[in-house]
Amino acid sequence: MFGFGGNTNSLTMNEPRPVSLLDTGVQGVISRPLDRVDGPAKVSGVATYAAEYAIPNLAHGVLVGAKIGCGKVVSIDVEAAKRIPGVIDVVIDFDTFIRNSQQGGETKAPTQGVKDIAYFGQIVAIVLAETFEAAREAALSIPIEYEYKAGTYNFEAHRDEAKTPPPSMLQPHFSQGNPDKEYDKAAVKLDVTYITPSQNSAAMEPHASIAVWEDDALTLYGAYQMPTSDASQLAQSLGMPKNKVRIISRFIGGGFGSKLGIAPESVAAAIAAKQLGRPVKAVMARQQVFDATVRRSNTEQRLRFGCDTDGRIVSFVHDSLTSNLPDEDYFEPVGIGSHSLYGGAHRRINHDQVTLNLTLSGSMRAPGEAVGMVGLECAMDELAETLGMDPIELRKINDPAVDPEKDVPYSSRMLTRSLEEGAKHFGWDARNTTPGTRREGEWLVGMGVAAATRNNQLMQSAAKVEIHPDGSATVSSSMTDIGTGSYTIMAQIASEILGIPVDRIVMKLGDTNDAPAAGSGGSWGAASAGSAVYLACEALRDKLAKTMDVESDGLTLKDGQAIGANRQTAIGDLVGEGIEATGEIKPGKQEKQFTQASYGAHFAEVAVNAVTGEVRVRRMLGIFAAGRVLNAKTARSQCLGGMTFGIGTALHEDLIHDQRNGKLVNRDLAEYHVPANADVPQLEVHFLDERDIHANPIHAKGIGELGISGAAPAVVNAIYNATGVRVRDLPLTCDKLL
Ligand code: MOS
Repeated sequence: MFGFGGNTNSLTMNEPRPVSLLDTGVQGVISRPLDRVDGPAKVSGVATYAAEYAIPNLAHGVLVGAKIGCGKVVSIDVEAAKRIPGVIDVVIDFDTFIRNSQQGGETKAPTQGVKDIAYFGQIVAIVLAETFEAAREAALSIPIEYEYKAGTYNFEAHRDEAKTPPPSMLQPHFSQGNPDKEYDKAAVKLDVTYITPSQNSAAMEPHASIAVWEDDALTLYGAYQMPTSDASQLAQSLGMPKNKVRIISRFIGGGFGSKLGIAPESVAAAIAAKQLGRPVKAVMARQQVFDATVRRSNTEQRLRFGCDTDGRIVSFVHDSLTSNLPDEDYFEPVGIGSHSLYGGAHRRINHDQVTLNLTLSGSMRAPGEAVGMVGLECAMDELAETLGMDPIELRKINDPAVDPEKDVPYSSRMLTRSLEEGAKHFGWDARNTTPGTRREGEWLVGMGVAAATRNNQLMQSAAKVEIHPDGSATVSSSMTDIGTGSYTIMAQIASEILGIPVDRIVMKLGDTNDAPAAGSGGSWGAASAGSAVYLACEALRDKLAKTMDVESDGLTLKDGQAIGANRQTAIGDLVGEGIEATGEIKPGKQEKQFTQASYGAHFAEVAVNAVTGEVRVRRMLGIFAAGRVLNAKTARSQCLGGMTFGIGTALHEDLIHDQRNGKLVNRDLAEYHVPANADVPQLEVHFLDERDIHANPIHAKGIGELGISGAAPAVVNAIYNATGVRVRDLPLTCDKLL
């Protein structure tokens, strides 16, 4: 997928990059809290989302989901559907339709045909009609005959059949030293089990695709986070060369993992459009998004700590159970944060998986840490209480100097500082150390803390930057902006290095015809695509210096002017017909030589009604260290969103399957509860100043998912401090607290 000519500035992160052109900050735009450059287009409604492209001669497709949880499709009565006026055809392609599509975001072609039904709501057909209404009517009424099989729908009933899944995002089993023996010998012990339910990404924009064929080439307007790998996934599914598939994802209304890999509507639209000889649009109904994209797996996590009387962890065990469909490799990487957050020489982090005929499990909002740290950070709170220690102290004394498993240093790590400064800002001193004793009328009030950490990843990414004779510049890449701010921060990076004002930088993202990037996922987007922009601009800066006949470091680029050797020229006048360069970043040895993660701390104050059990989060504070902050406003917004997800995980989100057939019970935003405005108090976000020279040339680390990782346990721990009731089964609804 990669490979450029001589005009590419390529960097593999084998060595640290101590100096960054962003440090000089001549243009003064980097890190500033700039408004989103795509904001006006979004709020005025002119930003075009996948389903909104006005394509002529469009046929409307509505997907049909299976109404059994396990078995086979025997027949589908296409003729009955065709009798509905306006219906053109029903496409059933058992060989190509995908039973599921996302393998934790990896590029992997789904192979299983749909004839075998593995879960309720699995897509089996697409109805095509002249109008959406006709297609929907036929899709809802089409007669389907099934052969039923006994499925497995109940986690509790099958938990003892859990198996070790194959390696996915991480090794499922890890062990070091002798954790069981050391646990038995330990002076102080804790053994607790936490449970988190299945969840749904619940992005605002439903999955949608418009498929347009021109001869044997497919253009798909889709709502996807990683268009370049999604295009090869789609090509694999359709059995065609990947260079014949173009995906366009200019604007995406949130993804949260559910749009990392292709979803069924893309494949269905593509097959249908080909068969029909007409463009086809397929938008999944909200309920279908819940049924037939991905869920986050439920988890059962048993944590054991053995430590000395000072609170130093000697033995640490984090064993988890998750669930997924038969034949699926992906498992929720529950223990991913547990590997390197705290010390402890003897350790085991195991993942086992239960096979269930429930919605496909996949990546969602900080896969691993978001729920794994519920177990870890709530257990740490319990351990602190067992020891009679302040929970911040316990974390500080177990903050290791080097990675406890790999024996390599951390690239940068401000865990202890986050805890200390966060405590100061939050007023942690005022916390009542005896739970359940601070009362204001009917309300019990308490405070909680949790660490934040999210692993940092760099993904191979490229971007092209052109400078035009009029002094403007264009940045183009298949990177996406899923609501995170990519458009803005990439424009800021180009502006800062080229000395071209931000409003003269034209951004082109989300098109696989442009330089291939890894897209938005795993919090790698800003650092990876941002580094690519940086490298392209570095190369352009060298070209401008050469034209000016000055050394590169003797050149100042500011406000559209090039200044060097007592000469000042408009940048546009130096570029002739225009100049361009491509930047490309690749992960290298630095990832192995250093453990890379972003860190922080979450603080929460809650009030719990002693009569009704109602929980009110009164305030939350998050303090984060994630390398260079590229835009103070968009970075803060990312963390506000993450903390809000944390409130949802602690108190609201709970995806429920009918235990008889695996049908989702709460498959829309009325029934699947996420925090509403009234649930979210004023949230405070702070950033610590940090540069990570091992991560990438712009010294930034991932922020997107840091805000969620640790947010939920801070709330859960605050509820315990308020009430003295330890609930280990999330979400903490009123009934569990009474
Ligand atoms: Mo994220 S769950 O990698 O979109």
